[in-house]
Amino acid sequence: MAKKIALITGGLGGIGREICIQMGQAGYTVVSTFMRPGRDERWLADMKEMGIEAYCYKCDVSDFDACQELFAAINRDVGTVSILVNNAGITKDGTLRKMTPDQWHDVINTNLYSVFNTSKCCIEGMMNQGFGRIINVSSVNGQKGQFGQSNYSAAKAGVHGFTMSLAQEVARKGVTVNTISPGYTATEMVMAIQESIREQIIADIPVGRLGRPDEIAALVVFLAGEQAGFITGANIAINGGQQMQ
Ligand code: CAA
Repeated sequence: MAKKIALITGGLGGIGREICIQMGQAGYTVVSTFMRPGRDERWLADMKEMGIEAYCYKCDVSDFDACQELFAAINRDVGTVSILVNNAGITKDGTLRKMTPDQWHDVINTNLYSVFNTSKCCIEGMMNQGFGRIINVSSVNGQKGQFGQSNYSAAKAGVHGFTMSLAQEVARKGVTVNTISPGYTATEMVMAIQESIREQIIADIPVGRLGRPDEIAALVVFLAGEQAGFITGANIAINGGQQMQ
């Protein structure tokens, strides 16, 4: 059977890279997008060394036209995407009093509009195949809010509204749509928080530590599989107990 193709947006970053590795090791062909130049060649070499068939495209996922070009290239070079992991995301933290309109728009565009853009470009292909998985990476802060993150929390909460609606539209076509909501995970993004604030956040996590990217990736691999076909429209928390519902 042909290998299924998984697109992971932002697959060169902290959590995304680990998702790519575990998806590759699980037998998928891996495609990633990236924004910051200079890291793609290293990433491709690393994947190759691990025996993973991988492709990488520069794409601003907040731009719909760029996403259309991305999918045209993937369809031409690789094939039809069966698994979409909307992982790309940014933070531009600040209290609302200090937040600029640019900080608001950048975060909403990258973290929420992108989910529309990429899903729109691959939903027909998934429905025609009778199989698809869309996994949207939200955040504990989309569930509980966070001081200094009105932009990020709004985008991440919005992601799950999108998940629940699209899940209903495509359920009969073998396509599932789910949200995962990681808590604070040991990545560059979290290490950028001022140390004293980060230490306080960690102290409030019942498990007593940051999450590991490989723990998040394992959940993605499970949701991508055939066995997860009865899970749709869910928002799965993976946060060390920081937020319980
Ligand atoms: N609750 C209540 N009050 C708080 C507070 C909190 N959590 N944090 C700070 N304050 C208070 C301060 O004590 C200070 O009070 P005074 O003015 O009375 O002294 C005031 O708020 C500071 O307000 P400022 O607007 O000046 O805030 P700042 O510029 O100093 O810092 C911030 C704002 C940069 C957003 C900082 O609060 C911060 O870094 N917060 C953490 C944000 C965070 O968790 N980001 C997560 C990034 S990782 C990620 O997002 C991944 C994921 O999905 C989990």
